[in-house]
Amino acid sequence: MEYSDLIFPKGFLWGSAASAHQTEGGTHNDWSEWEKIPGKIRDGSTSAIACDHYNRYEEDFDLAQDLGHQVHRFSIEWSRIEPAHDHWKTDEIEHYRRVVEALIARDVKPMITLHHFTNPLWFRDMGGWLNPESPTLFAPYCRRIAETLCDYDVIWNTINEPLVVATLGYLFGEFPPGIRDYGKTLTVAKHLLMAHGQAATQVREVYEEQGLEQPQIAPVISVSYFMPADPTNEDDIELARYLDELYNQSWISGAISGVVPEVLGGGGAYEPLRNSVDFIGVNYYSRMLVSSKLDFLAGEMPPKDPSLERCEGLDWEVYPEGYYHILNSLWSRYNVPLFLTENGIGTLDDSLRCRYIILHLQQVHRAIVDGVRVLGYLVWSLTDNFEWTYGYGSHFGLVEVDYETLERRPRQSAYMFRQIIEQNGLTAEIQRQYLS
Ligand code: GAL
Repeated sequence: MEYSDLIFPKGFLWGSAASAHQTEGGTHNDWSEWEKIPGKIRDGSTSAIACDHYNRYEEDFDLAQDLGHQVHRFSIEWSRIEPAHDHWKTDEIEHYRRVVEALIARDVKPMITLHHFTNPLWFRDMGGWLNPESPTLFAPYCRRIAETLCDYDVIWNTINEPLVVATLGYLFGEFPPGIRDYGKTLTVAKHLLMAHGQAATQVREVYEEQGLEQPQIAPVISVSYFMPADPTNEDDIELARYLDELYNQSWISGAISGVVPEVLGGGGAYEPLRNSVDFIGVNYYSRMLVSSKLDFLAGEMPPKDPSLERCEGLDWEVYPEGYYHILNSLWSRYNVPLFLTENGIGTLDDSLRCRYIILHLQQVHRAIVDGVRVLGYLVWSLTDNFEWTYGYGSHFGLVEVDYETLERRPRQSAYMFRQIIEQNGLTAEIQRQYLS
């Protein structure tokens, strides 16, 4: 196989992503309560002390720096900042100031996510994202964080994967609060859209009040490449199109247009959404085959293609071409720059992780050549961590974590990724070395 150098645009940003609940340890929120219910986490584990990142962030950021990362995406744990409604923990706010300073001191740009799946218990008890007031209940926390961190050079992410929160929590019942109701799923998606608008508005207002230049703000969406199980069957084709529209497009089109889409319950223009998207954070892992003969809402899926490699536990197929198609469709539809905020694979086979990263970056490069504007690429994740319903049973880290000793050991993929960063892309040599 002949390879050529695939060099990325000047200024392209490379790094990794993580979230508070999955790495910090010691969080008390709706997820830590959910984990206590037998059967909810497949390996019976809990987030407990996770990777103890709360205490070891400097060690982790030393690694990110050594591994050449230019950006690190992490989330702030809302339940630490506001453990009871309107009660604020200044020492916890100061903790995140130190986290941001630790990254900046290492020349790694902080990308801050305000909401990554978890909610404080008081918020859960007030109805969580089903509560029509939920977007405004979320807003004061966003303002506090913006007030504390606006003096630093950071990038803002509002909500991580709203449709994952909505579908896994309220349609398939696998995430808290474990509801299975299509109507409620759409209501939650709508409230998360409004919450994104509230978050962006709070951040913008704080910068405005302080006379600061406006920062870059983005929501982060999860995308999947929906494919008809039978490409000749009109109903399968239509179902794939419908799910693409619902899952990949509806929410982000609302955030960009400022109008709550009809499919999410409508409601017309929502002022806080105006000017809320500087770029789209895009998380891609896999494709999804769908069949009109099966009940998708009941979780029925066609069999996986046995010839494709899979992600550990989650069983996602490795399907890099889907990345190319999704990036093209987002760009052609919205003309808004894309930042690839998560891509990676859970596996103990690190040679598979190396292949996965290279094969996906080839598709990203292909999209860039077509004219798609891509600002950066982050591997999920810097270290192994608590993988939600899969507990510690899926290993996404460039860096292995020994959960007995909490020792960190960079994997070969971490060094491969460092080489990619140094070259600002895939040299023919790297592709040959890892794909042959
Ligand atoms: C994303 C999520 C991350 C991580 C990853 C791998 O949906 O944002 O928290 O778990 O998937 O499953």
